[in-house]
Amino acid sequence: SLILGLLPFHLGYSFRVLDLHGQEIPCLDVNDLLSNGLSDKVCNCSAILQGEKEALLKAKLLTITKDFQKIIQIPDEYYINATKDCRKFKITRKYITFPLSKEEQDFLLAYSMVVHHKVQNFERLLRAIYAPQNIYCVHVDKKAPASVFIAINAITSCFPNVFMVSKPVDVVYAGWTRVQADLNCMADLYNTSTNWKYFINLCGQDFPLKTNLEIVQALRSLKGGNSLESEEMPQGKKRRVMNVYQVIDGQIQQTGKTKDPTPFNLPILSGNAYIVVNRGYIHSVLEDERIQALIEWAKDTYSPDEFLWATIQRMSGVPGSTWPNRKFDMTDMNAIARMVKWQGHEGSEGSLQAVYPECKGHHVRSICVYGAGDLQWLIEQHHLFANKFDADRDPIAIYCLEKYLRHKALTELD
Ligand SMILES: *[C@@H]1O[C@H](CO)[C@@H](O)[C@H](O)[C@H]1NC(C)=O
Ligand SMILES: *[C@@H]1O[C@H](CO)[C@@H](O)[C@H](O)[C@H]1NC(C)=O
Ligand SMILES: *[C@@H]1O[C@H](CO)[C@@H](O)[C@H](O)[C@H]1NC(C)=O
Repeated sequence: SLILGLLPFHLGYSFRVLDLHGQEIPCLDVNDLLSNGLSDKVCNCSAILQGEKEALLKAKLLTITKDFQKIIQIPDEYYINATKDCRKFKITRKYITFPLSKEEQDFLLAYSMVVHHKVQNFERLLRAIYAPQNIYCVHVDKKAPASVFIAINAITSCFPNVFMVSKPVDVVYAGWTRVQADLNCMADLYNTSTNWKYFINLCGQDFPLKTNLEIVQALRSLKGGNSLESEEMPQGKKRRVMNVYQVIDGQIQQTGKTKDPTPFNLPILSGNAYIVVNRGYIHSVLEDERIQALIEWAKDTYSPDEFLWATIQRMSGVPGSTWPNRKFDMTDMNAIARMVKWQGHEGSEGSLQAVYPECKGHHVRSICVYGAGDLQWLIEQHHLFANKFDADRDPIAIYCLEKYLRHKALTELD
């Protein structure tokens, strides 16, 4: 085909193809972010970011090419080997190793990253958000394959400000341990440094839409506030907090028992797992006795990550919180924490039901995994991060976002 004809393809998989010194491969050259020439002809990110149909079609065709899909897989062993020489790893992967501005140096961030697979996704996310002044806690699911744990541990070992959580847990989908993973990182981050001002939690399939400087500026403009979804619990979700659930054989199930009222009669609000909160909020989560009681109460509910943070955000005395009155409700679209496209809310502009344009990638559990065609719209949003990306399925989306962000970060330097 035309596209294949343009590619200097290495057929089949080998380490050489992905070697840090290897030949440039279009849309794969994660090492040379400012590459040009050949790779721009085949995979033109500026055209993709402008939503140009021809470039998007080319990207789509490339993405579904079998040889391309084979080449883009990076085995865990690659990272284990490549991080044996940390200095070289950081240089070849072009990590930013000094604060890019005084403003960023004076406004430190703390990240919790909860990961269970896809090491390549994790490493590219870490690189995209990495700044030497920030701190990063990484929680790898206790039941993740050994190679995932070893590879991620090896990557974190290359950075003094990136560490593995002290108490990893076995994360059960929609279960309490999803919250516990973040709580354990919160405690470690709070404990490790007193200097950071805001906390952001991520999962391995998130990716930033903003540079570190833009994130810092967005957080400063919150003036001590927090930014997360916190709104009235939809009728259909109420059973999640009215019934007792337990984990059986690694799956969460209803027990038939009804839950007691919340401690202190706290009103439960609905939100999601992803938050952008100030240090005082984290202090409250770790120390406030009402919150400790709420945490105990929430342990046998369904998907506590989708109401706990939202509820704490509306408690008096929590730094950056707002009153529980509905006039202070904040939707996921108005909060800056995370852009997630739910399949049921996609549609065309002008429709009362639609919240965002249709997904150009594919769906996993009703959530859009972004394709290159989603980028033009995504980078216009005010959200700091978007979910989900998958470097194995649509590497061009991440590749072009990386290029866009790095170019912007370097432009900001002048
Ligand atoms: C990439 O696309 C941009 C925007 O359409 C265009 O100006 C540029 O010439 C293209 N680059 C290449 C190498 O085709
Ligand atoms: C392992 O890493 C070293 C140093 O970075 C590199 O020279 C070597 O080619 C790598 N080996 C494999 C099998 O990738
Ligand atoms: C960190 O937390 C542990 C356990 O809670 C505690 O024993 C230790 O003193 C803390 N360290 C710092 C520096 O606060």
